Amino acid sequence: MKGMDSSEITLGVVGAGAMGGGIAQVAAAAGIRTRLHDARQGAAAETCEKIRDRFAKRVTAGKMSAEEANVATANLLPVAGLNELADCDVVIEAIVEKLEVKTALFKELEELVREDAILASNTSSLPIGAIAAGLKRRDRVAGMHFFNPVPAMKLVEVIQAADTSAVVMDALIELGGRLGRVPVVVKDTPGFLVNFGGRAYTTEALAIVHEGVATPAQVDAIMRDCFGFRMGPFELMDLTGMDVNFPVTRFVHENFFGDPRLRSTPLHRYMLETGQLGRKTGQGFYDHSDGAVTPSTDAEVNAPPAEAIFVHSETPKLSRLIEACGARVLVEDDGQSPVLAAPVGEDASAYAVRNGIDHRRLVCVDTVSDCEQRVTIMAAPGHDAEMVATVVACFAQKRQVSLIGDSPGFVGQRIAAMVANLGCEMAQMGLAKIDDIDLALRLGLNYPYGPLELADHLGSKVTYRILEQAQLLSGDDRYRPSQWLRRRAQLGLSARTG
Ligand code: NAI
Repeated sequence: MKGMDSSEITLGVVGAGAMGGGIAQVAAAAGIRTRLHDARQGAAAETCEKIRDRFAKRVTAGKMSAEEANVATANLLPVAGLNELADCDVVIEAIVEKLEVKTALFKELEELVREDAILASNTSSLPIGAIAAGLKRRDRVAGMHFFNPVPAMKLVEVIQAADTSAVVMDALIELGGRLGRVPVVVKDTPGFLVNFGGRAYTTEALAIVHEGVATPAQVDAIMRDCFGFRMGPFELMDLTGMDVNFPVTRFVHENFFGDPRLRSTPLHRYMLETGQLGRKTGQGFYDHSDGAVTPSTDAEVNAPPAEAIFVHSETPKLSRLIEACGARVLVEDDGQSPVLAAPVGEDASAYAVRNGIDHRRLVCVDTVSDCEQRVTIMAAPGHDAEMVATVVACFAQKRQVSLIGDSPGFVGQRIAAMVANLGCEMAQMGLAKIDDIDLALRLGLNYPYGPLELADHLGSKVTYRILEQAQLLSGDDRYRPSQWLRRRAQLGLSARTG
């Protein structure tokens, strides 16, 4: 297709549902002759009609000229028979997610199309290699994984199966660009980049709630305010729906043979089984019915602010925070004031024991997460509640305060380190180029940082320490650091070092 004008390319799309319709829309708008086919009679024509309406709306909104809409509409042709795709340069399949149905379609297609035509699948979970397995020519089969809604989502994962040729990959990367998408090349692995890498953010949030460390609303507020995520993990799950995110989570976990890093919690399944799917049913982790009140996440202020504080961890961020809130920093522990510390990966209990601190007066502050807007604090079991309340009141003068249960890595450190760790593992597995791993998760999931960028944002050493401590204290291999991360942390290198 190199050197060809887009108008000389003919694309076939099989499956005129949500995805096939979206792919056909962006292709026709990009000036490519597009033929849309669906097994259900009349479905392709109905979808083409809907696409024409969308073009008309774009003209009204001033996003497309009438001339462009006419050309795009003329590029779009519903076809009743599969044989009408015989002269296509590329056929993209977006039919039902069943291996046997897809393989049957590909077998039919390979008998129909030209020798040099390319066959691509938009499957979100089936191995491309398995779709290609029974075909005469496996070298011309690849994955072309778009995101929903296609016109709004810029990313396309171009998946290289074991036998896919370099020529086919090059052609599909080029086609992705012509369709106005950002193509990233990914190995044929369960969940590819986005559906695999996206597991950490939500499953770690679920683990935190499962352990009773924080509520969903508290977790969401921390991830929004301290890391700049547009949506907290529970808001995100409510948006995608438990009927979508639970099966994907289970699929990825099973396909990595139960790797504990990818494990979800019973609560996730319970939400699905009880029909609390999220926005689509009006109830998920949040109540989405009209007039529902958003739960408050900030710690209540019910004590006078602490006036004097002893700081055990000498971190400039913590001292600055205390000073900003108007408390006096004691030079020596007076034996009666709150003792503040900023552990990395440890919980308050372990920190108190390791440092010989009176756990009743210890209040831990997460200074790894950004604390310009919101501060997360936690204390050990048996803490002096009145003393903790004076620290809450002190910080509440200048910041929002999240008071959580004792946890290795608080909330922010835990979730961020788990997202970063999975990104490091993807780099270790060579699933894609480092830049592409970051790009894919930013574009595919709207993350403010890619996972390797997030590791560097925390610092590779800090990320490693959080995970090492969480693994040590919990005894859970879920937190085992990626070897990619360990090497770079030990050598003092960026997580993005190749
Ligand atoms: P959909 O259910 O909206 O559309 C599927 C269409 O395929 C239907 O119109 C159906 O009549 C047609 N179809 C079924 N079997 C056929 C056959 N043998 N030949 C021709 N047409 C056939 O499904 P959707 O959501 O568009 O998904 C399609 C594919 O895209 C699936 O493989 C899915 O995993 C994948 N995908 C879906 C995403 C999503 O968010 N919906 C995101 C990324 C990938």
